[in-house]
Amino acid sequence: MSKPISILGIFVADLTFRSNRMPRQGETFIGNSFKLGPGGKGSNQAVAARRAGAKTMFITKVGKDTFGEMAMKLYADEGINSEFVWEIPKNSTGAAAIMVNEESGDNAIIVVPGAADELVPDDLEDAEAGIAECAYFMASLEVPIPVMQRGLEVAKRNGVPTILNPAPAAILPDEVYGLSDYFTPNETEASMLAGIPVETVEQARDAAKVFMDRGVDTVVITLGENGAYVRNSEIRQHVPAFDMGDKVLETTGAGDAFNGGFAHALAEGMPLIDAVRFGSATAAISVTRLGTAPAMPYNNEIQQLLDSQNTQ
Ligand code: RIB
Repeated sequence: MSKPISILGIFVADLTFRSNRMPRQGETFIGNSFKLGPGGKGSNQAVAARRAGAKTMFITKVGKDTFGEMAMKLYADEGINSEFVWEIPKNSTGAAAIMVNEESGDNAIIVVPGAADELVPDDLEDAEAGIAECAYFMASLEVPIPVMQRGLEVAKRNGVPTILNPAPAAILPDEVYGLSDYFTPNETEASMLAGIPVETVEQARDAAKVFMDRGVDTVVITLGENGAYVRNSEIRQHVPAFDMGDKVLETTGAGDAFNGGFAHALAEGMPLIDAVRFGSATAAISVTRLGTAPAMPYNNEIQQLLDSQNTQ
């Protein structure tokens, strides 16, 4: 097994409500099902990377409460290093209300980070020894921006390559682009951050150039069923998605699956396009299952999908 991956992000309990349509303003109606499970983008990414085969270290804060216990049990069960998962008494663990429209597959999510909002930049200094040991450092934007930025800075000064998944989209300080070796927005995030529409591969190519001009080394824009667009100084390539047809059940957490699988593949030393295909396969399997963290596939399943389909 290669060196570990350190992931900074949040854990929240996902409260998922499934119904045939979304509620209208002021409306109450009876839905189809409810499930409580582990979520949060960074935590989902950690589970995806771990199940894909990576040694994984997660950095966050949770409360000393039932959802916090759920987080600690998840990391113990999955074999994720939780040395830098701080349990704090003064705030509750966060939660996400996820509404899934079973007819269209669309979702709408409200996330309250709770205890993870208590992360401060100095916490990343405390985690420096752990980050310095890692093959890659990955962060997303559910933690406060200054915390995310300090994480990238700590990684860079220790020579650890960085992956920034700018999800959910937020305005970023200019310096953050130059601190990002890999930048992995989806089409919505890319559009918001680049200030241009990103619906086609051609538009993704233009958005990728915007991010490179701002200082990113390698841009990977995920485009859902249209695959991913990859651009750096040497490569400009569209990577098609895996077609899972009518097996698709729920797309919540697909981006987390992609990023976890992608980070693992990079840490294993795979070439960039192979790493993107590995991430795509991880996401493709995750959408055939319900939930977020529980939907993440294991290495043998990803390998099987990669072996069974040649999308290049
Ligand atoms: O990307 C999906 C995740 O976003 C969910 O698990 C939810 O918790 C939100 O953070």
